[in-house]
Amino acid sequence: MELQEEYKDNAFDLLGGVVGVKILANCFYDVMEELPRARKIREMHPRDLKDTRENLALFLCGWLGGPPLYKEKFGTANLAGIHVHFDINTDERDTWLACMNLAIEKQPIDEKLKIYLNKRFEIPAEKIRITCQQQVNGLPVVLPPGIPGLK
Ligand code: HEM
Repeated sequence: MELQEEYKDNAFDLLGGVVGVKILANCFYDVMEELPRARKIREMHPRDLKDTRENLALFLCGWLGGPPLYKEKFGTANLAGIHVHFDINTDERDTWLACMNLAIEKQPIDEKLKIYLNKRFEIPAEKIRITCQQQVNGLPVVLPPGIPGLK
């Protein structure tokens, strides 16, 4: 399915701005903490998810077309760089996406926007997988060019 361009510039607003994005990010990590299937990717994360929850929310604000809060705080928002030291392959990618899918499902937004968001998350998730596997296999890591929406 093609990504619906109608949401390219307003997904952030339709999700409810910073507040709505924070709710989504927290919901995502709540799902990850609860889902037995997600135990492996949960254990890749720090024991205390407070900062990770906050940082994912800051990142998603910019990525969804809102203010570039992650970049303002950390100076860069390089997704590949954040993840390159983990062994993320198809199973980890699909589990992450399943958690996000469940979190999106809980949000009070249109079905079409849910579909858009799910499709959109697949793009960076796959880029992360490719970069991580290049690293795992000792190949030169080519950090992928611009992630859509990255500022
Ligand atoms: C492909 C499956 C993915 C896995 C297994 C995964 C795993 C992780 C892990 C283990 C961390 C903690 C890093 C640390 O504290 O050192 C993390 C942080 C983060 N991830 Fe992912 N991730 C995935 C996909 C994504 C995607 C698709 C996005 C964005 C669209 C994303 C955005 C972030 C952000 C913003 C952080 C916080 C970085 C920080 O604390 O500064 N991740 N992820």
